[in-house]
Amino acid sequence: MLPAIRIIGGRRFAVKGASALNATVVRSASTWANVPQGPPAILGITEAFKADTFDKKINLGVGAYRDNAGKPYVLPSVRAAEDKIVAARLNKEYAGITGLPEFTKAAAELAYGKDSSALDRLAITQSISGTGALRIGGAFLARFYPGAKNIYIPTPSWANHGAVFTDSGLKVEKYRYYNKDTIGLDFEGMIADIKAAPKGSIFLFHACAHNPTGVDPTQEQWKEISKAVADAGHFSFFDMAYQGFASGDTNKDAFAVRHFVEQGHNICLAQSFAKNMGLYGERVGAFSIVCENAEEKKRVDSQIKILVRPLYSNPPIHGARIASEILNTPALYTQWLGEVKEMADRIITMRALLKDNLEKLGSQHDWSHITSQIGMFAYTGLTPEQMDVLAKESSVYATRDGRISVAGITTANVGRLAESIFKVKG
Ligand SMILES: Cc1ncc(COP(=O)(O)O)c(C=O)c1O
Repeated sequence: MLPAIRIIGGRRFAVKGASALNATVVRSASTWANVPQGPPAILGITEAFKADTFDKKINLGVGAYRDNAGKPYVLPSVRAAEDKIVAARLNKEYAGITGLPEFTKAAAELAYGKDSSALDRLAITQSISGTGALRIGGAFLARFYPGAKNIYIPTPSWANHGAVFTDSGLKVEKYRYYNKDTIGLDFEGMIADIKAAPKGSIFLFHACAHNPTGVDPTQEQWKEISKAVADAGHFSFFDMAYQGFASGDTNKDAFAVRHFVEQGHNICLAQSFAKNMGLYGERVGAFSIVCENAEEKKRVDSQIKILVRPLYSNPPIHGARIASEILNTPALYTQWLGEVKEMADRIITMRALLKDNLEKLGSQHDWSHITSQIGMFAYTGLTPEQMDVLAKESSVYATRDGRISVAGITTANVGRLAESIFKVKG
């Protein structure tokens, strides 16, 4: 029934034509009056960093690559590809539901390898970067996975994994991964949890450059993990957000994914081009499922389309055109591989410099984890209280779990950073 009386700004207004007897007050406050305030985000760092007026402050909370001057970096190969695309004055028509086929074909080859047996039986779709790929994967598993709709993620994991999979309709469980005493991998705990999980469970693995710890299994350990997963009949979901960015070599970083496929696991995979191409805001990614054969691929592909269509109809084209241009143009591809390696090498060099500086200051602490960890992030092993002191007394900002973004370290600030850490940790 239509409202007879409305209260607007605390005053009563009779609505024309309505009987006073039927008067019902339908709105006494805003429609959203009962929406609860969400918990404060971890955006404390950005705000505190901005508010700090010290000119030598250091921000180690950012999740994006910075050059040695501390500035955002657009890869020259990306600039060149973009210039070519703009010059071609292409139209802006919609892509198909699963995106640009020339992009997804090249993305699959990059991940699985040009000669992979998976390519002919791969259902793949372009996605809204890595997050979108995980979300499509979560939704597909929630709809079609024949076993329990639980997904096991490492402890700790990327902060968004839990929410992505819960919102997809899966129940999130945890497996052991990080050993805070060794600041390394809890390999025994991980294998034990894989074995203990109900047969046919879904396991999420970070393919390389585990976020937030920077701790990855070795190739030998991946082989054992693959075997334990196979013995238990589990299903593997790989999140590969840093291919090439971890070691500087796209093939090496894809080891786990390719090994699992070679061993007969029909995995699914989320890919992101945010970090390795620096296409963060362009939202370029892919989600794929290795099927048993071409006939199964056809069916899975049709269901991915049915799932994506009501989510966002079809993906954005500009970033995917850039990635496709790079991946499909031999000269640009070679240039890009060099640039990915440069980014990875800068990160690796900053890790070594930080460790050297700490040792030169006379630190007796074992900092070998700083250089053995890989990727954008390093787990320092500092406590939340020590991280607070770093921020308060040295204007060094990072998350309270002791994670630092190595991308925020430069040759200019590494000395002061080491001194600040030495002051709190010794
Ligand atoms: C482990 C991991 N997965 C997925 C993502 C998703 O990133 P994006 O959606 O920007 O591709 C990130 C980003 O930080 C990540 O660290």
